[in-house]
Amino acid sequence: MSIDNEIQFEKMKEIGAIVANCLEYLKAQARPGITTCELDHMAALFLAQYGAISAPKSEYNFPGHVCFSHEHDVAHGIPNENVLKEGDLLNIDVSASKDGFFADNGESIVIGNSKGQKNILCKHVRKALDIALNSARSGSKINRVGLAVETYAKKNKLTILRDLGGHGVGLSLHEEPEFIGSFCDTKDKRVFRENQVVAIEPFLSNGAHYVDEAGDGWTLYHDLFYSVQKEHTVMVRKGRPYVFTNPTKRFAS
Ligand code: CO
Ligand code: CO
Repeated sequence: MSIDNEIQFEKMKEIGAIVANCLEYLKAQARPGITTCELDHMAALFLAQYGAISAPKSEYNFPGHVCFSHEHDVAHGIPNENVLKEGDLLNIDVSASKDGFFADNGESIVIGNSKGQKNILCKHVRKALDIALNSARSGSKINRVGLAVETYAKKNKLTILRDLGGHGVGLSLHEEPEFIGSFCDTKDKRVFRENQVVAIEPFLSNGAHYVDEAGDGWTLYHDLFYSVQKEHTVMVRKGRPYVFTNPTKRFAS
């Protein structure tokens, strides 16, 4: 969608804050000893408390409220009973709607206090999102976002996942523009519009280029490498985009 009045802007701000605060809350709760089923239950209560509806559930009948992708899983992981351990990689992707307006955000984190290769990957993808957001400007080509992410990845000897990316969002979870990749597709002539609402989500990896589909019909994974994502829902402008999914609350971890 493109925002053309104050009511739409306020509605996007509201759902943006809800999904951002839910993600912040889940990050704080994701400690060694907990399962993603337990986290998903907390997310369900959190969203309900703010009158929001899980988007993967309502839009795709996903078997959970939030996508939790653990270790070699990259995206669309189903909540399960496996206990999280110190040093595990976990991607939490929260998307939801309220009053018909949708926002989407996610982040890869490392469980516990360990410092290592996975933490460095997470730091890189936070930086990559920051750089990608700088390239999402009205009047500018959509593939500039991918160019920025790809350039950053190469400089840091990382790979990007070619089959996952950002997308338009707002009146549904996924809408046009359909695919905002982490690489520069020179054939892509699309241009960002002023006040267009998009989810920007770079995917970096320490070696993977594509993901595989698991037999559960949902989970996307790569057996050999670790991959990370960070995602914000934003409104594109001439300057830096307006971020709807910055948390407005702090949750102690
Ligand atoms: Co997402
Ligand atoms: Co998304």
